[in-house]
Amino acid sequence: MQENTKQYYIITMGCQLNENDSEKIQGILKNMGYEKTDKIEDSSIIIFNTCCVRENAEERLLGKLGEVKKLKEENGTIIAIGGCMMQEKHMQDKIKQSFPFVDILFGTHTLNNLEKDIKKVLEKKEKVRDILDIDGEIIENLPIDRNDKYRASVTIMNGCNNFCSYCIVPYVRGRERSREPKNIIDEIIDLAKKGYKEITLLGQNVNSYLRVEREKNIQFEKYEGIDSFAKLLRKINEIEGIERIRFISPHPKDFTDDVITAIRDCDKICKIIHLPLQSGSTDILKIMNRKYTKEQYLNLVEKMKKNIPNVVFSTDIIVGFPGETEEDFEDTLDVVKKVHFEQVFMFIYSRRKGTPADRMENQIPEEIKHKRFNRLKELVEAQIEDNNKKYIGTIQKVFVEGKSKTNDKVFTGRTETNKVVNFEGTNDMVGKVLNMKILSEHMWYLKGKVV
Ligand code: 5AD
Ligand code: SF4
Repeated sequence: MQENTKQYYIITMGCQLNENDSEKIQGILKNMGYEKTDKIEDSSIIIFNTCCVRENAEERLLGKLGEVKKLKEENGTIIAIGGCMMQEKHMQDKIKQSFPFVDILFGTHTLNNLEKDIKKVLEKKEKVRDILDIDGEIIENLPIDRNDKYRASVTIMNGCNNFCSYCIVPYVRGRERSREPKNIIDEIIDLAKKGYKEITLLGQNVNSYLRVEREKNIQFEKYEGIDSFAKLLRKINEIEGIERIRFISPHPKDFTDDVITAIRDCDKICKIIHLPLQSGSTDILKIMNRKYTKEQYLNLVEKMKKNIPNVVFSTDIIVGFPGETEEDFEDTLDVVKKVHFEQVFMFIYSRRKGTPADRMENQIPEEIKHKRFNRLKELVEAQIEDNNKKYIGTIQKVFVEGKSKTNDKVFTGRTETNKVVNFEGTNDMVGKVLNMKILSEHMWYLKGKVV
């Protein structure tokens, strides 16, 4: 390892909450004098921020660790692994056993110790295990080095109380905790001052923001009357400089009327709602512990369509949950047909150690899971094409994100409904919301023209 290089390389797996944690890790490393590099071989620290929601993340991590072993041997590179996967005892044990060269294991509740942990390795050459098994602790005032200049994620709550039977998150992120309203509002005001235009509010269950605190009478500082998700949305909508507000992920069971009217009333809230379905079968939803039926989900969608002009939806769907019959799967297809989602994140059910669904005996054979996945994919892609056609000839408000990676003249942005729009533009357009006429559709993006 060369002296004075002080570069780090970071690999982030998983959801936007993890991306946001990685930005905090980046902030900590920047404060320590480290620079980010995208050349792994030049780094003196390699950080993995892991996810454990599905099995493929595990395979990816273990494969990568095999690769970095050589860098460790040749350069003495510090290897640190953090994130959700490290909250799982069997994964901690696996790393210790198979990859003893790893220097730091840290969890989701100990980001604030990272600087200390790295110093311990540097100064004392110790191996560090810094993992706490606690609830969704909120750590304020961590430094942050954001990846984007105009769009920012803001975590508003941590942890999950729902225990969907397939999901590992409640075990690795602990129980729900909400951030104090004032801390959130101050952060967003500060972001607006720095030129950020789009805010995505994050949480495993964003629309139950402050619910546990209200129900259990846990004291929190009341700020400007904010005591619910709906009121938080309304307040953020007033912040000058912010032009778009998104949030992920809400739970259908917590989608109260006050949230629906807040979405309707607040002009900055994007009228695309991510509403995780998981399955369209009432029987499967019950075993999943989702606490709604097929009909209740469809009614909720109808209610929102009636109350919020031009609202559209995106969703998450799991295919091949234990016991899923052909009929159950067809219920899922039926909901997809009825709702006409703009975007569907499709997942093949993945067994997670310690969850109730992993202990169920009627697991679905891989072959059937894959066949169903492909059938769903076909339907979704046909619908996306159909939806895209409706954009042609319309004028859309497009938030310009930057240059295309492949063509210098082509710029790229997103509609309020999260569709990628490519167009010919100039550098001064970046960071602005511009009106564009949509000329054509190309499955994963639309072509537009500034008007
Ligand atoms: N298998 C497959 N998909 C899962 N998800 C959560 N747990 C699992 C699992 N065990 C999906 C859900 C969730 C999204 C973030 O990941 O659809 O909404
Ligand atoms: Fe997992 Fe369900 Fe909580 Fe989402 S709501 S994090 S799927 S347990």
